[in-house]
Amino acid sequence: MKLFTVFVATSVGFSLVQGNEWWWEYEDAKKQYSEEELSKEYPEKTRPDTFKHPPFRCPDMSPSPSVPTSVEFVKAADIKVIAALGDSLTVSSGNLFLPVYIFRLFNPELLGPAPKPTRFGQTLTINDTGLNLAVTGHNTANFSEQTRHLIETFKIYPGLNFAEDWKLVSVLIGMNDVCDYCKNKTLFSADNFVKFMMEALDMLMNEVPRLIVNVVQILSMEALREIHKPTLGCLLQKSFCSCLVRPSADSPELKEVVALNLELQRRLEQLVHSGRYFKDDFAVVLQPYLTKTQPPRLQNGTIDTSFFSPDCFHFTIKGHEELAKGLWNNMFQPEGEKVLIQTFSEPVQLMCPSEDHPYIYTRPPAPTGPATTTATDSAASSVSQLLVLPVLAVVYLI
Ligand SMILES: *[C@@H]1O[C@H](CO)[C@@H](O)[C@H](O)[C@H]1NC(C)=O
Ligand SMILES: *[C@@H]1O[C@H](CO)[C@@H](O)[C@H](O)[C@H]1NC(C)=O
Ligand SMILES: *[C@@H]1O[C@H](CO)[C@@H](O)[C@H](O)[C@H]1NC(C)=O
Ligand SMILES: *[C@@H]1O[C@H](CO)[C@@H](O)[C@H](O)[C@H]1NC(C)=O
Repeated sequence: MKLFTVFVATSVGFSLVQGNEWWWEYEDAKKQYSEEELSKEYPEKTRPDTFKHPPFRCPDMSPSPSVPTSVEFVKAADIKVIAALGDSLTVSSGNLFLPVYIFRLFNPELLGPAPKPTRFGQTLTINDTGLNLAVTGHNTANFSEQTRHLIETFKIYPGLNFAEDWKLVSVLIGMNDVCDYCKNKTLFSADNFVKFMMEALDMLMNEVPRLIVNVVQILSMEALREIHKPTLGCLLQKSFCSCLVRPSADSPELKEVVALNLELQRRLEQLVHSGRYFKDDFAVVLQPYLTKTQPPRLQNGTIDTSFFSPDCFHFTIKGHEELAKGLWNNMFQPEGEKVLIQTFSEPVQLMCPSEDHPYIYTRPPAPTGPATTTATDSAASSVSQLLVLPVLAVVYLI
């Protein structure tokens, strides 16, 4: 198996409002940054062709003796299908956002890989997309529509028993709302965000038996403003996430959009931890690993732009599976012990499900318990959290 690193468009704000033109420019710009160029420029940031995943074995990789009936006793090997919903970040992360290759070690019969990301404006069949139904440019307003599509797909997916099989869906959505906020502060308000999330999660809860939903906490996006490279691709950045990138430093506009970003995180946590989504055979779990992730920085504090390709959106670090590994680990860490990734420059160590509790953790924190993660505790902590580049590259196994 050869590993091929694909640098994909990622992240925030493929705004529909601006039309398609920038997209084609962007696609063009992207072609300049081939794997070959990259390995010339930053040989240490790519992998040799001969790279293989280090073997990952766990003492117990077996399924439960019979199909579990409770959402609290589902092992990795009991999951029959995995799927993803969300916006551009989810799209571009392809199957790696889905920890497909890890799950497949536990269950070789796993359904639902996502061989190709869904491209802006294109209608692809399930044959093309597998079960990555995320769509570039989608806001949370479009989440219900995507969810409907997923439910219908589950019902007819070859090899899947809709009623009996355990399913896992991972969701990362909301960053586009931050990027588009200034274009319509009503449509992209925190209230609407919660309303649309709830609508879609309720739909999953009411219609899909035996389902676990990972809701990945949205990133703190302010550091996106700091990446600058004198390239066409990087200039285009201004149209990707204009509401965040265009306002000047210290402007009220910037403060407002950063505050919205934090408010969405807070409200998402409140919704998922409310207890509403924890039933016998259904649970929504907030996976916070990206909440505080920071871009890699040089010793003098500036962002290490060598981690980003010239368009400012592609991440060139080794070990692009970090996203999937972080998600996997969060699933097997209980509330209160979920690890937050501090920076993408450190590789994440995959963990095995514990022997005492070999199941995906699904129980929400007790209502009185301390929150696992927020970005709103104090002004001081929020400063350190205003980070992260919703910028990730991806390794596809081919
Ligand atoms: C998907 O692939 C299967 C098997 O390769 C084929 O039979 C089916 O017609 C395809 N469906 C679509 C919608 O292209
Ligand atoms: C997303 O939803 C909005 C509001 O409902 C709609 O106007 C827009 O066309 C949708 N976008 C896509 C790509 O479906
Ligand atoms: C903003 O969105 C709301 C709700 O979708 C809509 O009624 C309103 O017309 C939009 N305003 C603008 C200026 O587009
Ligand atoms: C930080 O260090 C890098 C490389 O050593 C240099 O290019 C950059 O200008 C420095 N930035 C500041 C603000 O000193």
